[in-house]
Amino acid sequence: MKLMFELVLICGLMRISRFQCVHEKEYFCSSIPTDFPEGLTSVIFVVTKIGVLNSTVFNSPSLKSVTSLALANSGITKIEPGAFYAFQSLTKLSLYQNNLTTTMASWLSKPERLENLTLSQNIIQGIGPSMLSHFSNLTTLHLANNRINMIAVGSLKHLSKLTYIDLSGNNLSTLTRNVFIGLRPPRMKLGDNPWNCSCELQDFGFFLQELMNASLLEDASSVTCQSPAGMKGVSVWNISDFNCSPELPSPFLTSVFHKVGLPLVLMCLAFLSFLLLLLLLWVVKRDKKQVQPGREATVEDGDGEQKGPMNAMTKKIRNNRLYEEKSQQLFKRVREPDLILKAFGDQEGDKKGCFAQLSRYWSPSETVLFDSGSKDG
Ligand SMILES: *[C@@H]1O[C@H](CO)[C@@H](O)[C@H](O)[C@H]1NC(C)=O
Ligand SMILES: *[C@@H]1O[C@H](CO)[C@@H](O)[C@H](O)[C@H]1NC(C)=O
Ligand SMILES: *[C@@H]1O[C@H](CO)[C@@H](O)[C@H](O)[C@H]1NC(C)=O
Ligand SMILES: *[C@@H]1O[C@H](CO)[C@@H](O)[C@H](O)[C@H]1NC(C)=O
Ligand SMILES: *[C@@H]1O[C@H](CO)[C@@H](O)[C@H](O)[C@H]1NC(C)=O
Ligand SMILES: *[C@@H]1O[C@H](CO)[C@@H](O)[C@H](O)[C@H]1NC(C)=O
Ligand SMILES: *[C@@H]1O[C@H](CO)[C@@H](O)[C@H](O)[C@H]1NC(C)=O
Ligand SMILES: *[C@@H]1O[C@H](CO)[C@@H](O)[C@H](O)[C@H]1NC(C)=O
Repeated sequence: MKLMFELVLICGLMRISRFQCVHEKEYFCSSIPTDFPEGLTSVIFVVTKIGVLNSTVFNSPSLKSVTSLALANSGITKIEPGAFYAFQSLTKLSLYQNNLTTTMASWLSKPERLENLTLSQNIIQGIGPSMLSHFSNLTTLHLANNRINMIAVGSLKHLSKLTYIDLSGNNLSTLTRNVFIGLRPPRMKLGDNPWNCSCELQDFGFFLQELMNASLLEDASSVTCQSPAGMKGVSVWNISDFNCSPELPSPFLTSVFHKVGLPLVLMCLAFLSFLLLLLLLWVVKRDKKQVQPGREATVEDGDGEQKGPMNAMTKKIRNNRLYEEKSQQLFKRVREPDLILKAFGDQEGDKKGCFAQLSRYWSPSETVLFDSGSKDG
């Protein structure tokens, strides 16, 4: 298609070397005129260095019959809202090989009519949720050879008629199937992207397999991993093991942890808190017993000023201080809750440590179940 397009361009260019526009099957122009003949359906511009395309460049009423417009390799860096308002019947738009960073429905008066959109070889870096939301009649979308490294979930959900999307030659390292949610999966090209085949891409790998089984992935052999180093060049769809087990617990393990481990940890916590409370009460009680008015006075009255029982205020202050000291010691001694809390962290090591602690409270069979799970994944 690209080759044909270029051939047509060259032929067109040769013929219009002396004229501004020539009318073949298509209408070729080497610059943008102010007037156009009536009844045109297809216009191709071979203009260079357009830069910013503002809303006053195309304003001939004759353009309302045009259904196909190409502005390829024209040095367009930005298209302002309304720039294509004159093209009221546009179903096909090619902006191949420019310097565009985005696409907007506001370029067109009737974005919902557009069926084919080509933005290949631009410098788009990401697809945001609103960029394509009004192109509800779009069937083919060419985004090859941009710099796309992110496609927001939901950004394609309005393209319910999409049958083909080309995302090859971009900068995608991860993608989830949720990006295509709400669509009948279109035919796709996803090759020549730096896919990161770590565990996160596993479900995407399954998605690719489904696409392949439905003959929807056109360039399967180019959909290869760039990272991790050990997987470089491997086809993403052909990976049976995304090395998920060492980094993350498998869904089974997670559910075991949630069903058995979590309640147990909570129970342990509750039990330990209860013990702590009992200890505290006991310590306070013992301290009260120790601080007998008579004995206290003899210890306290080094300066010989205050004989006999302490007054009520001093006693209260003393008791409070003692209580504080004792409870601090107690907190220093009872550190187990910290260990158990670590189980809620992400580190597998911490989790193992905790379960080693906890294994005292586990029935042996449960402990074994968990241990073997975490090894074999
Ligand atoms: C729109 O662009 C054309 C050509 O680049 C320029 O001559 C014109 O002044 C611009 N109009 C506005 C409103 O910026
Ligand atoms: C457009 O991009 C090309 C390469 O990506 C670059 O060489 C050129 O300078 C850019 N043009 C403008 C006007 O930014
Ligand atoms: C959408 O495209 C179909 C042809 O595929 C056409 O019949 C229909 O009118 C278009 N819808 C709009 C809103 O232009
Ligand atoms: C444009 O879309 C139609 C379907 O609406 C499709 O048959 C055709 O191949 C597309 N053309 C290009 C150039 O992608
Ligand atoms: C590709 O994306 C990464 C971020 O995911 C970014 O750091 C890098 O610069 C991008 N490369 C290009 C060529 O845009
Ligand atoms: C691949 O993904 C993993 C997990 O998200 C991340 O740690 C790693 O840095 C990524 N590698 C590259 C090259 O982006
Ligand atoms: C794809 O097809 C193969 C062979 O027919 C099958 O083994 C595999 O499970 C299928 N994959 C998916 C995700 O449907
Ligand atoms: C897929 O992977 C298997 C081994 O896992 C390998 O034997 C086979 O050649 C691979 N197929 C392709 C097309 O890369």
